[in-house]
Amino acid sequence: MDKKLEKPQQITFDITDRCQMRCVTCAKWNTVPSDIISKELSTDEWKKVLSDLRNWLGEGFWFCFSGGEPFLRTDIFELADYAHSLGIKVASMTNAFSIQHLYEKIVDSPIESLNFSLNAINNPIIHDESRGREGSYEKIIDAIMEIKKLRDEKHSSLGINIATIMFPENIEEIIPLVEFVTLNKINGIMFQLLDDKESFQAYCVRTSSKTSKYVMPKELRLKYKNMSKRAIEVVDRLIEMKRAGHSIYNSYEQLEAMKVFFNNPDDILHDIKCDVGSTNFAIDPYGDVRLCFNMDAVGNIKNTLPQEIWENMESQKCRQLTKSCKMYCRMLNCNFKHNFANFNKSFLQKCINKTVRILKGKN
Ligand SMILES: C[S@@+](CC[C@H](N)C(=O)[O-])C[C@H]1O[C@@H](n2cnc3c(N)ncnc32)[C@H](O)[C@@H]1O
Ligand code: SF4
Ligand code: SF4
Repeated sequence: MDKKLEKPQQITFDITDRCQMRCVTCAKWNTVPSDIISKELSTDEWKKVLSDLRNWLGEGFWFCFSGGEPFLRTDIFELADYAHSLGIKVASMTNAFSIQHLYEKIVDSPIESLNFSLNAINNPIIHDESRGREGSYEKIIDAIMEIKKLRDEKHSSLGINIATIMFPENIEEIIPLVEFVTLNKINGIMFQLLDDKESFQAYCVRTSSKTSKYVMPKELRLKYKNMSKRAIEVVDRLIEMKRAGHSIYNSYEQLEAMKVFFNNPDDILHDIKCDVGSTNFAIDPYGDVRLCFNMDAVGNIKNTLPQEIWENMESQKCRQLTKSCKMYCRMLNCNFKHNFANFNKSFLQKCINKTVRILKGKN
C-alpha cells in the first residue's frame, strides 16, 4: 500500500439513480429501470455506512447527497439526522423540482449546505430546456428564494449555493447568474464544465469502465470550439468579479485553465494529472464504491468496511489508472481543485502566458 495515502476528502452518497427531470446533459433519467427501488441500499444500510465512516474518519467530515435526485428518497432527513448525531456534516445537491412541500423541513434539518443546479437566470427557457421539463425554472427560483427567506427568519446557518454547468446555450447567463447570487446574498456559485452525457449514466446500467484513452466526443469538442471566444471573455469577467468580492467558488487557477481549455480542449490537459484516486470516495445507490466516477467500482460497502475498500488492491490499481488517465474530465470540478494543490507555479504561469497569446491572436 502507498505509505503516503491520505483519507478521502470528497465523499459522495449517490443515494438514488432515480430522477424526475429529463436533462439534455444527463442520461440518468432514461437509463434507470422502473423496479430499481428494491435494489437501493435501505435506510439501515446507509446508516451503517455512516457509522462505519465515522469510526474511520472521526467527527467533522463532510459528505454530499447526490444522485439522481436525492430528495426522491423520503428517508433523506432521517439519514441527515443520523449523520448529524455522529458529528458528520451534510450537504446535498438538488434540482428543486419536487421539494416545494419540504422547505421548512430542509431549513430545520441538519443539512448545512444545499446546492441548487441552476443553468440560467435571465432566460427561463434556457434552464427549462437544459432540464427537459417546463416549469423547472419557476420551481427552482421559488425554492431558492423561499428557503433563503425561511433561513433568514429562523437565523439558520444553512448555506445556499448555485451549481451551474457552462455550455454554449447559457454562456450569456453566466455573469447575470453571479450578479443574482450577489444581489440576493446567496452564499456562492460554482461553475462546472460540460462533460459527455455518457458519463452521467445510471449506475445500475453501467457495464465496464471506459478506457483511459477515452477522448472527447466530436460533438462535444465542436460545442466547446463554437463557444470558445465568448467563453474566454466570460471567464475573464468571472476572474474580475471574483477579485471584486463576488462569491465564485472556482479557484483562480481553475478559471485561468478554463480559458486555455476553451481555446483548445486538448491543450491544457497535457499538464493536468488526475487526483481523484487519492481524494474521492463515491458510493452509488447499490453500495458500490468508486474513486473515479467513470471507472469500475473498487468494492461494495454492504459487505466491506470503507477503509478496507480504500486500501484494497482494486483501489490501488484504480489509483494507478487515474494518475495516468488521459480523459478530459480532468478539467471537471471533482478533480481540479484538489489537483491544483499539486501544481507548481510554473503551470499557472503557463496558463497565464498561453491566455495572453490567445488574446493577442497569436495562438
Ligand atoms: C448528476 S446531478 C445529481 C443531483 C441532482 N439531480 C441535480 O441535478 O442537482 C449533479 C450535477 O451534475 C450536473 N450535470 C448534469 N449533467 C452534466 C454534464 N453533462 N456535465 C457536467 N455536469 C453535469 C448537474 O447540473 C448537477 O449540478
Ligand atoms: S442532472 Fe440531476 S436533475 Fe438532471 S437528469 Fe441528471 S440527475 Fe436528474
Ligand atoms: S480524468 Fe480523472 S475523473 Fe476523468 S476518467 Fe480519468 S481518472 Fe476519472
